[in-house]
Amino acid sequence: MVYAQSELPEHLKNLVAVAKAKTQDAYCPYSDFHVGAAALLADGSVVTGSNQENAAYPSGLCAERTALFAANSTYPNTPVLALAIAGYTHGHFTDDPVSPCGACRQVMLETECRYNQKMQVVLCGAEECYVLESAADLLPVCFTSKNLQ
Ligand code: THU
Repeated sequence: MVYAQSELPEHLKNLVAVAKAKTQDAYCPYSDFHVGAAALLADGSVVTGSNQENAAYPSGLCAERTALFAANSTYPNTPVLALAIAGYTHGHFTDDPVSPCGACRQVMLETECRYNQKMQVVLCGAEECYVLESAADLLPVCFTSKNLQ
């Protein structure tokens, strides 16, 4: 579902504003691609993250996983209801809604399975946002704990 940012439901509007603000805390000297993420928890808490790069490139981490791992480790018993993600580069927010990498999609899915709670995912562009009702929508034919049985 595509929304203008101003038309988002109130709880998501705030989350998008937080994710956009969080882009400014990214540590991304190698890509100059600033990503912010904000997770809304079932108790109303908002946990944020930004991408953290490293001179040894693979040692860095995306904003989504930074936020979700922080949320899941700090509040291990509290489901995540929604995650907003925004990207900022060349002095402005990306026109197109930011698209999470495969590893982040997998971690989003694990969060959803772990709490047996669908997580809305909001991919933010400068003006428009894509709202997905479930992280599973971003990962068809996915691998989960069920495949380990
Ligand atoms: N990145 C994220 O943090 N999230 C995404 O959804 C896409 C990519 C980061 C990883 C790296 O620090 C930079 O953006 C460029 O790929």
